[in-house]
Amino acid sequence: MTKRPRQPVCTRRELDETPFLIRAIHFKNQPTSAIVFAFEGIAYSYINHCMHMNRPLNCEQDAVFDDTGKYLRCSMHGFIFDPTTGECQSPVCLGQRLQALRLEEIDGTLYFAEKHLILSA
Ligand code: FES
Repeated sequence: MTKRPRQPVCTRRELDETPFLIRAIHFKNQPTSAIVFAFEGIAYSYINHCMHMNRPLNCEQDAVFDDTGKYLRCSMHGFIFDPTTGECQSPVCLGQRLQALRLEEIDGTLYFAEKHLILSA
């Protein structure tokens, strides 16, 4: 079986210099996008899809964090999420989670480590 080449997301340096990155991807054969960010020194990635009304978190504003920088925030209706787990903290979707995407860091470059994910061109 042929192994798919690693899919580079960005360098660690790029991630440390920006609040977040968006990458166009296909996940489980569906076109979508991924949010990638560093929080308290750790890199995280989630499918950019709010479960409330199926919108990208940055659909209304070019931001995915709230003003405190402690929570991810969907700009459609303001629901907030724990950036370390993707768990929604707002009552309507309390406990539901953003789809996490595994990352691996090798020699200063971050890669998606998901079997069913393909980076779009
Ligand atoms: S669509 Fe995200 S909070 Fe409503």
